[in-house]
Amino acid sequence: MSMDLYCVMGNPVEHSKSPWIHARFAELTGQTLQYGKRLIALDGFATAVSAFMAEGGRGCNITVPFKFEAAALASHTSERATLALASNLLTFRDGDILADNTDGAGLVNDIQRNAGLALSGRHLLLMGAGGAAAGVLGPLILARPASITVANRTLSKATDLVERHAALALLQKTELLAQDLRGLTGNFDVVINATASSLSGAGVPVAASTLKPGALAYDMMYGPAAQGFLSWAREHGAVARDGLGMLVEQAAEAFLIWRGVLPPSQPVLAELRAVMG
Ligand code: ATR
Repeated sequence: MSMDLYCVMGNPVEHSKSPWIHARFAELTGQTLQYGKRLIALDGFATAVSAFMAEGGRGCNITVPFKFEAAALASHTSERATLALASNLLTFRDGDILADNTDGAGLVNDIQRNAGLALSGRHLLLMGAGGAAAGVLGPLILARPASITVANRTLSKATDLVERHAALALLQKTELLAQDLRGLTGNFDVVINATASSLSGAGVPVAASTLKPGALAYDMMYGPAAQGFLSWAREHGAVARDGLGMLVEQAAEAFLIWRGVLPPSQPVLAELRAVMG
């Protein structure tokens, strides 16, 4: 019997943890599948998707830099992927390509289930307005915080992102604001770093006064890239959390969509932390 085929496509993709995570989910739920990784040429994404479909692939995760192209390629796009203008998850069904985005659900589930902080009624700061921020704003609004301030170095990008989500925020009764990151004031229960500032070697782009005492400071990255923000947060009395749990939870959502079974994400997250040292 041939195994159901999945993969993650990206460039770079060498260090992706997704094959390991999905293999553990499959073992723990008794599912039979094969999940690989594919390095895709920067101009070869659409061709690679067609080739994988022709091989019988059932679906794939999409990582940098193809998430925008993935959403554009699909014949059907979920509401959250439409809001994000990006997709981390393609499912192939009867020759159709269905695009979804589980990044935001992954973040919300990691904060609420694994870190144990209910977002409802809280004041959130989302730093950044690029692809990473766009992928999570819709699901953050659906968790019904009292307010979300989207703050970015380039204010116009924050304004665009907020305008795109304004109707959803109104429905959910969440106040949604766009601000310039420089000189930002306020006092937040949760501060989420979705900027790429650490990758450019820059420091944390916001004042520590934005952290309420005991606030949750969350970096969507993990490993060395998250360390500067996490140390800064701890120094200023916040609870620091990296994005490894978001990675596992977005995969759990994908596994549920593909296989119809919710895998046990918490033990897999604990194992992954141990494996990564
Ligand atoms: P990603 O997919 O990781 O979100 P992106 O779409 O290029 O990547 O977005 C990068 C984000 O990090 C943007 O919000 C960017 O701010 P600008 O829109 O002003 O470019 C933010 N960013 C990158 N370097 C930064 C720095 N040194 N300080 C503050 N924000 C920074």
